[in-house]
Amino acid sequence: SDPDLVARATAAKKALGDRLFILGHHYQRDEVIQFADVTGDSFKLARDAAARPEAEFIVFCGVHFMAESADILTTPGQRVILPDLAAGCSMADMAVLSQVEQAWELFEAEGIADRVVPVTYMNSSAAIKGFVGRHGGVVCTSSNAKRALTWAFEQGQKVLFLPDQHLGRNTAVLEMGFTLDDCVLYDPHKRDGGLTSEQLAQARMILWRGHCSVHGRFTLDCVNEVRERVPGVNVLVHPECRHEVVTAADYVGSTEYIIKTLDAAPAGSAWAIGTELNLVRRLANRHPDKTVSFLDRTVCYCSTMNRIDLPHLVWALEELVAGRVPNVITVDADTAHFARVALDQMLALPA
Ligand code: 13P
Ligand code: SF4
Repeated sequence: SDPDLVARATAAKKALGDRLFILGHHYQRDEVIQFADVTGDSFKLARDAAARPEAEFIVFCGVHFMAESADILTTPGQRVILPDLAAGCSMADMAVLSQVEQAWELFEAEGIADRVVPVTYMNSSAAIKGFVGRHGGVVCTSSNAKRALTWAFEQGQKVLFLPDQHLGRNTAVLEMGFTLDDCVLYDPHKRDGGLTSEQLAQARMILWRGHCSVHGRFTLDCVNEVRERVPGVNVLVHPECRHEVVTAADYVGSTEYIIKTLDAAPAGSAWAIGTELNLVRRLANRHPDKTVSFLDRTVCYCSTMNRIDLPHLVWALEELVAGRVPNVITVDADTAHFARVALDQMLALPA
């Protein structure tokens, strides 16, 4: 990275001292992650957001829904800053509050609403988390989806899982003994979600039709191809991948799990990793004694994670040094209250 920008970021960080706390998601660029005080998957970042109550400014190097969650989980005086406001998440955008309210009205009309517990993946807006908190549900991340679903099925017979159909299906079918027939897909762009009354009555898992376009690029062909090309390869993927990819993989887990798995792997082992490329490249550099390759042959970054680059970080930090507070992410008090109920429920899940 540009030495001048590195020097400016270093100087601004030093000038702000304990007033500043920088959080970085594992998909961030190396040029940015080098300045993070804490790095993590979305669960760890949600848990650690509140770790420095004395810090006035929390600069969140990640995407919008993560910064919103940090705002909800920190104390009112702390301000959360997203260095580029265009760093969203296309999956989170696939569930809009009005659509979810419409789905719930359908469940009410079908007489099933009192049996449905909403569960939302962290990758959703604060508005969706607020809806889930209002209706007795829970937030989950890729590192605790099974525990969150187990809890939800103790509260009711059915789950509405938002917005990632793959995480929902993969967890229910591959980890909890549900069958594919127990799952139905609710399409917010179709009338009644594209489902019949009978399907809604029978389903255990009502999966929202959302997905991650980055992880959606990994196919079963990628897995077969790498197994042919690299004998003995271990295929390690994120649970946002399609069901057939996760089924064919050897290991599945969150970004933090992926990092720990590589750390524990023996020298000489070979790995093909199905997740975002900044992280895979970092792992390849960190493990020169292992063969680490990307599961897809083509390059795929998460374009919104990548929007936070060093120039944006330097700009945000220098604004703070100059006494201005840019790009503050705030969630209105009512939404924040109910979103926090659902987030606290997640944080309280048994280990
Ligand atoms: P993790 O919680 O595993 O870090 O995943 C976040 C994410 O956005 C994956 O696409
Ligand atoms: Fe969203 Fe996918 Fe990017 Fe994760 S990788 S932030 S789910 S678009």
